[in-house]
Amino acid sequence: MAGGRGEVKELEILKKEGLSTLYPERVKISVGRATCGRAAGAEDVYTFLQDVVARRGLEWDVSTVGCLGFCQGEPLVTVQQPGWPRYVYSRVDRRLAEQIVEGVAAGKLPKRRLLGKIYSDDLLLTGEKVDLAPEGDHPLEKNPFYGPQVRIATRNCGYINPESIAEYVARGGYLALKKAVQMQPEEIIEEVVKSGLRGRGGAGFLTGKKWGFARAASGDVKYVICNADEGDPGAYMDRSILEGDPHTVLEGMAIGGYAIGAQTGIIYCRAEYPLAVATLKEAIRQAEKQGFLGDNIFGSGFSFRIRVVEGRGAFVCGEETALIASIEGRMGEPRPRPPFPAQKGLWGKPTNINNVETWANIPPIIMRGGDWFAGVGTATSSGTKVFALVGDIKNNGLVEVPMGTTLRQIVYDIGGGTGVFDLKAVQTGGPSGGCIPASLIDLPVDYDALTRAGAIMGSGGMVVMNERSCMVDVARFFIAFTQDESCGKCLPCREGTRQMLELLDKICKGEAEMSDLELLEELAYAVKDTALCGLGQTAPNPVLSTLKYFRDEYEAHIRERFCPAGVCRELFELTVDEEKCKSCGRCSEVCPQGAIVGEKDKPYRLDQDKCIRCRACLNTCRHKAIRVVPRRRYQPR
Ligand SMILES: Cc1cc2nc3c(=O)[nH]c(=O)nc-3n(C[C@H](O)[C@H](O)[C@H](O)COP(=O)(O)O)c2cc1C
Ligand code: SF4
Ligand code: SF4
Repeated sequence: MAGGRGEVKELEILKKEGLSTLYPERVKISVGRATCGRAAGAEDVYTFLQDVVARRGLEWDVSTVGCLGFCQGEPLVTVQQPGWPRYVYSRVDRRLAEQIVEGVAAGKLPKRRLLGKIYSDDLLLTGEKVDLAPEGDHPLEKNPFYGPQVRIATRNCGYINPESIAEYVARGGYLALKKAVQMQPEEIIEEVVKSGLRGRGGAGFLTGKKWGFARAASGDVKYVICNADEGDPGAYMDRSILEGDPHTVLEGMAIGGYAIGAQTGIIYCRAEYPLAVATLKEAIRQAEKQGFLGDNIFGSGFSFRIRVVEGRGAFVCGEETALIASIEGRMGEPRPRPPFPAQKGLWGKPTNINNVETWANIPPIIMRGGDWFAGVGTATSSGTKVFALVGDIKNNGLVEVPMGTTLRQIVYDIGGGTGVFDLKAVQTGGPSGGCIPASLIDLPVDYDALTRAGAIMGSGGMVVMNERSCMVDVARFFIAFTQDESCGKCLPCREGTRQMLELLDKICKGEAEMSDLELLEELAYAVKDTALCGLGQTAPNPVLSTLKYFRDEYEAHIRERFCPAGVCRELFELTVDEEKCKSCGRCSEVCPQGAIVGEKDKPYRLDQDKCIRCRACLNTCRHKAIRVVPRRRYQPR
């Protein structure tokens, strides 16, 4: 082994270096510069802070971190100085950035947009605790968004500079790999089996069991793959982990490679994630430089390399056999299984594929033990799950909660609820998932409970919908997505999704008969039962779950030619409810057509001839005074 690389002392040196930048003896301002932060203006805030600090001749660090989860409040900025708690600010713009700088200089930080203060860092992997300041007011864990969360997979996101391997090591990074290569591969697999970890990519297969298959498969050459295709609309958990803490995935993969006997790892990441790809490549370079990847890792004789392959954005390429075909340079089409990748995968060799979040959970499992992990969550769904909480909800963002947390806790306690409009449904699992009605709000979120409810866990997309959502339209959106993304290889999926989409279009236009509803249901089951791969087999789920819980809405579209939520343009009109109208005039202000007029202390009036049913007034009126009614020119059937 060359010059001490990858040795234990290397970890000690890196740890020291990492601690010196994580907890410097001077002021440190960190900006969340993951994609969500950048979209909200983090780059401007970052360069502005650098300029201000330089202009004032201050010897402060202006650093980069990944996403701290509260995407609603981006750009997020943290401020740290010796003896003080770490202040976490949201929606930071130039003005607030300047005030923060002035506040630090004056010894009094601003209260505006302060999410909370962090008084100590608990290092999950080592059990160490770093005290920043004595406990005081406004702790971040009292913030309703952060309080109920338990961060295992995202433990480092928003805390470390993703481009610094030293900071990763300072929080216990690569200790699990060091431990793993001193264990027998079977012991590692046993630990993962004990943990009960189930694949976070959607199907929820037991990870330890899958590793066991790949280990048992004969062959000198084996592969591990990280599935970072993340094609579900609304889901971005994996991107956030890759951008915020790339080394946890590399470390997890190296441990998996050692356990199954692979020498090569491949991360298949969608090209639409350029920041994740760049962050990963830099992390690989650093890990190789330190000897944590490459030859003879920690002097164990185990050699392992990782490379990144960029996908081209087809949803079906997230399916494992299509993904393998895509890496091999073939058309990204699924093939029947068996043989499973564990027997015959990449280039015909035994291959183990896991999702980003699955890999991110491996180092903590090895460090803390399978029993520890199994103690978090529920009996059949251990650990935590990261959800991308989006839609009609106050606090959008990434949340990591123990399995078994109820939908109510996620939507209301963490998410802050749906505001003026009542909750109607929660969609989990993306295009393969289903819609859970508000009546099941106390459902514990784990693999089995969601499946029983007709949805699936999926990869973690969680779309919250209020009473203004039309469930037929939602089903149509997802079928349009899967129809578009179907690779066309098998007839049931290719033709079935097309026909389902045609039927849903008809229903949304008020042109369907009740017999079309029966046909839709029949088709949904036929596609589910006969499609070749998971895309087609699960594509009907949004239709079936909405038919199960919201059939009356389908029937209203057909029998009454009425969309009760006021979404399907042909099937509703709006009026002002005179009883509820408070004459505030907000609807009139947002109307692009000048279709709503009124005067003080009198109910406003809506002119149907001018109205284009854009819904702006419907979504604006805080008093729910805009009513959705059937169109007068339609007679119910
Ligand atoms: C259409 C389709 C798309 C998929 N997309 C992804 C994806 O983007 N990411 C992912 O990890 N798994 C995806 N999967 C699941 C993978 O086929 C595979 O089960 C998973 O990567 C295994 O990893 P896990 O055991 O860690 O979940 C998809 C499956 C299907 C059918
Ligand atoms: S916003 Fe609502 S309450 Fe206010 S004027 Fe319009 S309809 Fe009336
Ligand atoms: S739906 Fe749009 S166009 Fe019609 S009244 Fe409301 S704001 Fe005006």
